[in-house]
Amino acid sequence: MVSNLKEGNVEFERKVPDVYGDAHPKGLLKAIHEDGEHLKQLSSQHIISSDQFDRDVLLQLFRLAAKFEANPQRFRTPLQGKILISAFYEPSTRTRLSFESAWHRLGGDIMSITDRSTTGIAKGESLSDVGEMFNNYGDCVVLRDTNESSVKEMMRSLRIPIINAGNGLDEHPTQALADLYTIFKWKPEMLGEPGSGFSPIRLGIIGVPNKMRTVRSLLKMVAIFPECFEEVTIIHDDSDRIWDKGQLEQLQQAGLKIATTTDMESVLPKIDVVYINAIAWKGDGFESYGTRFVLDRNSPLKKDAIVMHPLARGDELSSDLDETSHNWYFSQARGAVFLRMALLTCMCERIERVMDVWM
Ligand code: CP
Repeated sequence: MVSNLKEGNVEFERKVPDVYGDAHPKGLLKAIHEDGEHLKQLSSQHIISSDQFDRDVLLQLFRLAAKFEANPQRFRTPLQGKILISAFYEPSTRTRLSFESAWHRLGGDIMSITDRSTTGIAKGESLSDVGEMFNNYGDCVVLRDTNESSVKEMMRSLRIPIINAGNGLDEHPTQALADLYTIFKWKPEMLGEPGSGFSPIRLGIIGVPNKMRTVRSLLKMVAIFPECFEEVTIIHDDSDRIWDKGQLEQLQQAGLKIATTTDMESVLPKIDVVYINAIAWKGDGFESYGTRFVLDRNSPLKKDAIVMHPLARGDELSSDLDETSHNWYFSQARGAVFLRMALLTCMCERIERVMDVWM
C-alpha cells in the first residue's frame, strides 16, 4: 500500500542545473572533425595508463563519446556477441556500474566479480593464472585492484584486452578520460584554432598528485593539451612530498604551467574548473587528505566556475552545491558511461559500426 505517493508529488525530470541534456555533447561534436582512423590504434590494446594516449586519439574518443551522449538510443548493438569480464577487487559504485552500463547499452553480455574471495585467488591462485582462464571466457577485462602491480600481473597471460579501472595509488586512466571529456564538453571552444578568441582556462586541483590515482592520471591527460590551460594550481595541505620522482618534471616538459598552494580561499576566485578529491585508496582502506578544504555555497567560486569531483564525496563537497550551476560532478559521472562506451567500442574492434565517415 503506497499511501504517501500523491498525484503530482513524483518528479522524474531533473530541474537544475541544465547540464545533462544533449546541447553540450552536440557542441563538442561540432568542434571536432570526425577522423576515425586514429581510433584504430585502440583496437585490442590494453589500457593501463594515461601515458598511452595522444591528442588525436583523445579528440576522436571524445567525439565518439559525444556522439553516443547526444543520441543515446542510436547505437544498441555494436558489442553484440561480446562478453565483458568485470573484476572489481576493491569497492566501486561508478566505475564498475558505468562500465557495465556502457557494455549493456552496446548490446554485450557481462560476467561480474565483485569479491576476490569468490574466485580461486582465495585458494592462492595467481592473477596470471586467473588471466589465463579469462582468455577462454570473455573478450575484454576491466580490473580494479588495491595493488598497483595486479593489472600487469594479469596482463602477462591475457590474450584479450584489459582496462585498468584503478590500481592502488597508481592510475585510473578511464576516470581521467571522463574528466577531460567533461571539461571539453563544458567549453568546446577550448579546442578552437589559435586566434579563435578563446582564452585558456585555469584549472585548480584540490588533491595530492602522488597519492591520488585520479589526480595523477588527470594531470597526465591535461598535459596533452597544455595550450588549453593557462595554469594548473594544485591546492593541498600535505606537509609531505606531493610529487613522485619525475612526476612534476614530466608535466612541465609537456608544457603545463603548474603552481602549488595551501591557500584555497585566495586562489578559488581565479579558477574556472575546480577539481576536488579528498581520498586515496591504500591497501584495504582509504586515507583522507585536505580535510580542511570544503567547497560549499559560501566558497568564493567564480560565477561561472564549474566544480568536478570523481566521487564518492565526503564532507569536502557540500550537497548545497548540487542545485547550482557549479555542479558538473554529476554530469561528469554521467558522461563516463558514454566515454566508456566509446573506448570499449574501439578496443573490441567494433568501431566501423559507429562511424559516420570512414576514412
Ligand atoms: N570515480 C570512481 O572511481 O568512483 P568509484 O570508486 O565509485 O568507482
